[in-house]
Amino acid sequence: MLTIDRTIRPGRVQEKAIPSESACDRMVAVLCSQYGGPQVVSVGDLPRPVPGPDEIRVRVMASPITVGDRRIRSLDFPQGMKTLGRVAMGWRRLRNPVLGTVFTGQIDAVGKNVRAWRAGDAVFGRDGRGMGCHAAYKLVNSLGAIAPIPAGLSFEGAAALPFGGLTAMHFLRSAQLRPGERLLINGASGTCGAAALQLAVAAGSPVTAVCSGRKLAWARQLGATNVVDYTASNFTQLPDQFDVIFDTVGNHCVADMLRVLKPGGRLVPQRGRQRAVVGQPASAPAARPARHCRADAAGLDGVVLLQFE
Ligand SMILES: NC(=O)c1ccc[n+]([C@@H]2O[C@H](COP(=O)([O-])OP(=O)(O)OC[C@H]3O[C@@H](n4cnc5c(N)ncnc54)[C@H](OP(=O)(O)O)[C@@H]3O)[C@@H](O)[C@H]2O)c1
Repeated sequence: MLTIDRTIRPGRVQEKAIPSESACDRMVAVLCSQYGGPQVVSVGDLPRPVPGPDEIRVRVMASPITVGDRRIRSLDFPQGMKTLGRVAMGWRRLRNPVLGTVFTGQIDAVGKNVRAWRAGDAVFGRDGRGMGCHAAYKLVNSLGAIAPIPAGLSFEGAAALPFGGLTAMHFLRSAQLRPGERLLINGASGTCGAAALQLAVAAGSPVTAVCSGRKLAWARQLGATNVVDYTASNFTQLPDQFDVIFDTVGNHCVADMLRVLKPGGRLVPQRGRQRAVVGQPASAPAARPARHCRADAAGLDGVVLLQFE
């Protein structure tokens, strides 16, 4: 997690500029100069962005370093996707050298058309395509995936929600999970899996959580009905059957996972080559393909509602 030491909490503004921000048209940023390991990352400065008519500028307080950032930085994409990745993000190095898709902070400037937000609002959200959140200031489309930080939640706490929360929400919706349906989550202790676990429990589904032995107790605390230690057993050999399997790991082949899927059940693979919702058998409800999470404000509101009310 990157936090910028501004010594303020949501709702209580105490501006305290960090030294290199004193030139007001510059900002501190974490720069990723080329593709590679963590050594390609350095701290530098960039022009401070100016909001367009429909944009807001967020003074960033905390931003997580996600598995997505690591994969982009190191060009770690599935077979055949590397070339596409380079075309999309820059051939030799990232076109936008600032990683980070999740932001929390305080709005410090708004574009002339923006009515929904005011300077001083404490907000959080996700900008999956734009990146650029590992910097002191981030421009965000005012209609994007952005929400007020719920009362009592710190900037760091809010920063932990959008990546896993929105991804889990997107994939669970794709699976059309209904209350009472049995869900198995492979990778239930990860960022996306732990969010899916809490969202599904809040929505009334009994959840079987697959994770390492040291995290079983935590998965139970989050609401799992059953837990499976992947170091001791293989969930595809369970006698149980599930309505939905949410796979965030990709370490079992589809055929094996279908063995523990009920007739009419849905398998939602989140990574690797298995990128669509697979129904079994053909009578399964039509499910939308779930390739990438598209972050939106409705999803963010849903995550907040289910986890904080
Ligand atoms: N398509 C999209 O839009 C999208 C969006 C976000 C993420 N993703 C992808 O989804 C994947 C998961 O992301 P994440 O942020 O949740 O990752 P993460 O936080 O690193 O979590 C990984 C999870 O996998 C578990 N795990 C590791 N080996 C396992 C095994 N052999 N069997 C079962 N579980 C195992 C870990 O369990 P322990 O910690 O208990 O060992 C942990 O719960 C990543 O590949 C990411 O790129 C895709």
